Amino acid sequence: MSGFELVRPLLGASFGGTVRLAGAGGAQGVIQAAEASPGALPQALAESGGLMLIPNMDAMTDEPDLLVRLSRLFGSEVEDYRENLTPRNMVHETVPEIFVVSNIPPASRPPPRQPDPPLTEDGRFPVQFPHRRGWHTDQSYRRPPPDISLFLAVEPVPQGQGQTLFADATAAYDALPAALKARVEGLEGIHVGSSAGRKRDAVLAGETPRTLRPHEAPQRQPVVRVHPVTGRRALYLCEFGQMDWVDGPFAGMEPGPFGDGAALLTELMAHITQPAFVYVHEWTRGDLVVWDNRCLVHAATWFDAEHERRVMWRTTVSGNPGALYAGERKSWIAA
Ligand SMILES: [Fe+2]
Repeated sequence: MSGFELVRPLLGASFGGTVRLAGAGGAQGVIQAAEASPGALPQALAESGGLMLIPNMDAMTDEPDLLVRLSRLFGSEVEDYRENLTPRNMVHETVPEIFVVSNIPPASRPPPRQPDPPLTEDGRFPVQFPHRRGWHTDQSYRRPPPDISLFLAVEPVPQGQGQTLFADATAAYDALPAALKARVEGLEGIHVGSSAGRKRDAVLAGETPRTLRPHEAPQRQPVVRVHPVTGRRALYLCEFGQMDWVDGPFAGMEPGPFGDGAALLTELMAHITQPAFVYVHEWTRGDLVVWDNRCLVHAATWFDAEHERRVMWRTTVSGNPGALYAGERKSWIAA
């Protein structure tokens, strides 16, 4: 018995789950129990459709190594951000496996813009693409892509801002009309990092795409991914900021912001992010959210960076991308 209790789904969502350790809480207790039953939390994540909240992990903020220890349970490799081109100011100063997402120095990362208009026509918080922008799955511009991200609220902003949105791309695939399922079968998306000058805004602005080094090159990924643990199919896509809008967004379709590929991408992303498939996480200090990038997309939201401090820590776990990627060298490491 692992001693963990899993409550599904997450509040207000059709998927996800909350994990608590029966009896004593706290990060130390959770890690000891999880390391004693190393399959328990990965199994809970799979049973939760790839999204899991572990609350009350505040102690990790004083002992960041605990976050890395917990991350190691989810896969064979926890990314070391010294080994790639991540700017040093975005990496935790003593624990290089932690990527720091914060509006305060040294990371100084601004929040996304608010949707325009800020609310939907019926006065709701917008989640659906293209009204809501920024939907992506982490590091999809790499082959093999990563499996799982862990995100810890060290210093969250007040609720009502700075939420993280998650959409269930497995349920979205299942709900696709048959004709659309047939259209996406075997199709490949072309993904690229947002700094490559190939995102939609850059193309629309007429920017000349810069010459990319081999390890920055756009990468093709299947639009329909088969999950290596659950065997379920999920849509694997990003939108304006993390697809290649010069040669893509889809291989073999008319490219660019006004092509057939763009129309299909808009249709698919609007489908994945319809409110029925979305969970909105309001952060509380000490929340640890674990998500599976192989079957979910997510988006960050605006917060008042002039008046609020936000510090979040992320780790990225890889090692089980599926048979498709077997034996591939890492595309993002310079040869
Ligand atoms: Fe992300």
